[in-house]
Amino acid sequence: PGIWFYDPGLMSTAMAESSITYLDGDQGILRYRGYPIEQLAEESTYLEVSYLLLHGELPNKEQYDKWVNDITHHTFIHENVRKRFLEGFHYDAHPMGILVSAVAALSTFYSDAKNIFDPASRDKQIVRLIAKMPTLAAAAYRFSVGMPFVYPDNSLSFPANFLSMMWKIAEPRYEADPRLVRAMDVLFILHADHEQNCSTTAMRVVGSAHADPYSAAAAATAALYGPRHGGANEAVIKMLTEIGSLDNVSDFVKSVKEGHGRLQGFGHRVYKNYDPRAKIVKRTAYEVFEVTGKNPLLDIALKLEEVALSDDYFISRRLYPNVDFYSGIIYQAMGFPVDMFPVLFAIPRISGWLAHWNELLEEDAKIVRPRQCYVGSDVRDYVPMEKRE
Ligand code: CMC
Repeated sequence: PGIWFYDPGLMSTAMAESSITYLDGDQGILRYRGYPIEQLAEESTYLEVSYLLLHGELPNKEQYDKWVNDITHHTFIHENVRKRFLEGFHYDAHPMGILVSAVAALSTFYSDAKNIFDPASRDKQIVRLIAKMPTLAAAAYRFSVGMPFVYPDNSLSFPANFLSMMWKIAEPRYEADPRLVRAMDVLFILHADHEQNCSTTAMRVVGSAHADPYSAAAAATAALYGPRHGGANEAVIKMLTEIGSLDNVSDFVKSVKEGHGRLQGFGHRVYKNYDPRAKIVKRTAYEVFEVTGKNPLLDIALKLEEVALSDDYFISRRLYPNVDFYSGIIYQAMGFPVDMFPVLFAIPRISGWLAHWNELLEEDAKIVRPRQCYVGSDVRDYVPMEKRE
């Protein structure tokens, strides 16, 4: 008390004690509640992972069935959100801008959300938010391209339902290839949490003021809208498109080394080794391409990785591919436009945000209120306007 330190970007400050996600950036290890991300991506489903993140344990069969049933029965959004709120946006509105606003708007539809210390009410808002994110995300996309809204089909799994709301064009139903459904689910698992990243910190900051979870999640979604956080995979697609051919890769790497820009999708504040998620995304890319055909950018990405990882500049700075290096290539192959990339990130990250929100309320965390080092004027007297220069 009475002593504080200047720590811009909170790079050296632990803001919370957390038992949700373990990350070792030197070793390239990521675990949710102790379970290695590799095992979860191989064996689990996104909804099982969301249960795990929120409850701390894997569900038994009965708990899992109830959880899936609860989520499935909250996928619809109020008609006023769709008809009046979403349709009020400008025709070329960015889907992420729509999502930020729509998540915030939900707080006005659920007045019980203010009862944040009532566990039953908290559970209800958690289920609503996880369930409605894909519906809002797909609605934002359909609106942004002038297509009619598709209602949730609750006979489908969580990822299949999202793909149906995105792509359905005719009755009676849209059936995605099961390999694409699984790839979507794996990408949701990989993006579900990543400890104290920028958007999770935003969730914790707003949550610490005891705002309702929709308002806090809107702040977190807004943080994810920033290109430094949720937008790197879009930058990767732009970079690979600009490189254009395998022949240009070496020259591009040379120009990065000379200080002209950065290799997008490389390097990470915490990982100083291969991001474990990037390995899984790379493998998933091949599974997706079996269905969609190969994204021609893949060969450029592979060559770029090979050239960079055999270059002392990148090795000595411990710059390896991060999760964004291959994810955009998959999304693009599946037909998603680049402005949907951060939206695809937000859909599963809501589970992580809510797990952190729950954690901070359970431990009755203090309101986040950092100090500052004041560097402005010393005291001075007010000068009337006519005497100012
Ligand atoms: N390409 C070339 N050089 C790089 C790169 C890169 N991608 N990243 C870092 N460096 C160099 C940097 O120039 C510096 O070199 P020097 O010591 O000679 O000045 C050194 O490596 C350390 O860089 P830094 O900026 O101090 O590292 P940081 O931890 O502050 O930055 C980063 C981390 C992710 C912002 C950065 O690596 C970067 O800009 N990467 C490209 C963008 C990107 O892929 N972002 C996605 C991050 S993962 C998604 C998420 O978590 O939201």
